Amino acid sequence: MRFKDKVALISGAGSIRAGMGNGKATAIAFAGEGAKVVAVDRNLEAAQETVRIIKENGGQGIALQADVAKEAEAQKAIESAVAEYGMLNILFNNVGIGDSRPGLKVTETEWDLLMGVNLKSVLFMCKYAAPEMKKIGGGAIVNNASMAAFYGHPIFAYSASKAAVVGLTKSLAISLAKDNIRVNCVAPGFIDTPMVALVMDERRMKNIELRVPMKRHGKAEEVASTVLFLASDDASYITGQTISVDGGMSIY
Ligand SMILES: NC(=O)c1ccc[n+]([C@@H]2O[C@H](COP(=O)([O-])OP(=O)(O)OC[C@H]3O[C@@H](n4cnc5c(N)ncnc54)[C@H](O)[C@@H]3O)[C@@H](O)[C@H]2O)c1
Repeated sequence: MRFKDKVALISGAGSIRAGMGNGKATAIAFAGEGAKVVAVDRNLEAAQETVRIIKENGGQGIALQADVAKEAEAQKAIESAVAEYGMLNILFNNVGIGDSRPGLKVTETEWDLLMGVNLKSVLFMCKYAAPEMKKIGGGAIVNNASMAAFYGHPIFAYSASKAAVVGLTKSLAISLAKDNIRVNCVAPGFIDTPMVALVMDERRMKNIELRVPMKRHGKAEEVASTVLFLASDDASYITGQTISVDGGMSIY
């Protein structure tokens, strides 16, 4: 029970379809280790489903609706979490989208939306979470990037936004270290989530698996266990780092 008496807010804590997204798996894992979970998603029903599973397993949590790419809604989500549970110890900035035409076909609207969601959500959630963590003597923030941060990707805005999340993580880590707030990042590789299932058929999934040294997709639960490590006291001297959860893709 590494997170007993801790409050953990997870953004994008639902899943776009039935199945296990990274945020949903992480919310369930935090609750399983004693945390009070605030499951935030722009899709309230999806967040409620996550909380239903948490409660079914004997955990504690609430669901909140917010588009955390909008500063006012990010602020409200943090305020509601603190109003409910009195404090905030952990923040997992998991929200991310990949909807855009590939390469230079991207439109200005698509670029702005994707960069807005993937990047502003991290910035504004941290802007309002950090003062709450400072009040209680510290905390831990984990951001969700992607291996697309380090490689070329057909969706230009996706890799650019995720590279920026890695950079932002380092800046946040330096600026918040004095307040005992650690900020780290996970960079998942090919994870079998509902978002991936939506855009890939079985043949493409198999082709990808051949490129992974471990010859399989990752599971959202494997991203979750890395997030929990980074948020826990086991990682008490780690900040500003990015851990790849990719079955060895990044060493190929
Ligand atoms: N699945 C992968 O292979 C993979 C790989 C690398 C990185 N990632 C990253 O993991 C994160 C989650 O991806 P997933 O595959 O689990 O997705 P998912 O679609 O299963 O879950 C994402 C959730 O975020 C919510 N969401 C989207 N925009 C939001 C917003 N503005 N405000 C609040 N909620 C919002 C959606 O409603 C959804 O419930 C993303 O940041 C993604 O880039 C995924």
